Amino acid sequence: MDATSCRIYCIKQHRPSLRARAKKAGHQSCRQNFRFQWRSGRKQENDVQDFRVLELFSGIGGMHYAVKRILPTCYVEAVDINTVANKVYEHNFGERPHTLDLNQITWDTLDSYGADMWCLSPPCQPYTRTVFGKRLDASDNRSRSLIHLLEQLPLMQRPPKYLIMENVEGFVGGKVHGLLKEALLACSYQLQV
Ligand SMILES: C[S@@+](CC[C@H](N)C(=O)[O-])C[C@H]1O[C@@H](n2cnc3c(N)ncnc32)[C@H](O)[C@@H]1O
Repeated sequence: MDATSCRIYCIKQHRPSLRARAKKAGHQSCRQNFRFQWRSGRKQENDVQDFRVLELFSGIGGMHYAVKRILPTCYVEAVDINTVANKVYEHNFGERPHTLDLNQITWDTLDSYGADMWCLSPPCQPYTRTVFGKRLDASDNRSRSLIHLLEQLPLMQRPPKYLIMENVEGFVGGKVHGLLKEALLACSYQLQV
């Protein structure tokens, strides 16, 4: 990833169940809690205990590290196709990601993780503006897995309430960015950034 041009999206779907669960556990509303932590970047005592995160395209776990800083007690599961990256991830966090091809994953497997939030870091090669980048966008095979996930989302019984995605600047305004926005709005998500 080109660190100087990275963008982060936070997208959420309003669902009373998460708030109700947080209230029952004596926390402030999950939404307020998450928003506050997101903005301030500060650890809070009333962290959400049973918040489940699915890190897709986990690599060596940059998203894991970031999310644990704002939700220290959340449970993180990860998926990546690269076995070497998965070994490094295990070294970093003590848990080996599922070695799966996200081009093949189906909605019921995604449901089975029961995630409240997805963190996605899909391959940036289709969009990058570096000298090596061909900028093929949706025509690059490496964008297929993200498109496939967007196709599975509406089929899910228990879709995540929040999605965070990072990618390079060249992603914004392209075809796959358009597909992402369309898919999320069709599933009643709100684009926060
Ligand atoms: C931009 S990197 C991830 C960066 C990550 N945030 C980190 O901290 O390392 C993209 C990742 O997607 C994985 N990936 C690419 N195609 C995949 C696929 N079809 N299924 C699962 N993982 C895939 C790569 O192995 C790579 O680790």
